[in-house]
Amino acid sequence: MEQTLSIIKPDGVKKNIIGEVIRRFEANGLTVKAMRMLHMSKEEAQGFYAVHKERPFYDSLTDFMCSSPVVVMVLQGENAISLNRTIMGATNFKEADEGTIRRDYATSVESNIVHGSDAPETAAWEIAYFFSALDIMA
Ligand code: PPS
Repeated sequence: MEQTLSIIKPDGVKKNIIGEVIRRFEANGLTVKAMRMLHMSKEEAQGFYAVHKERPFYDSLTDFMCSSPVVVMVLQGENAISLNRTIMGATNFKEADEGTIRRDYATSVESNIVHGSDAPETAAWEIAYFFSALDIMA
């Protein structure tokens, strides 16, 4: 079993599809082990995306991520990291496969509904950014 960090981004929350996104995770074999809604500060968004701080979209991405509430979750399942990214679809929704969350709901490479960890080390770091061990169900 593997765990990964998922975020329903501001555009997903505003579209009122929190339930639909979680339904897709659960229908495809992922289980929610921790979850909360929060409204990040600019500093919190910058810290989360620090790995991208040299990239041209860093300021815009972090502005977007603190523009309104998000839902953060720990998802668990077999190969949860890659499974989650398959369910999400490609970062650029125009390249996302049919039936994926981003293909169905994203409107740009920034407003792409969901974030998912991309590797085991990243998942561990990202989960710890939002949750303590006590928050995550056994
Ligand atoms: S990935 O999945 O990490 O390989 O994707 P990557 O292209 O490196 O993008 C990393 C995150 O940055 C967001 N992104 C952008 N935001 C705003 N403007 C532009 N041009 C842009 N390009 C990429 C993208 O949605 C990724 O966000 P997360 O939350 O990591 O999915």
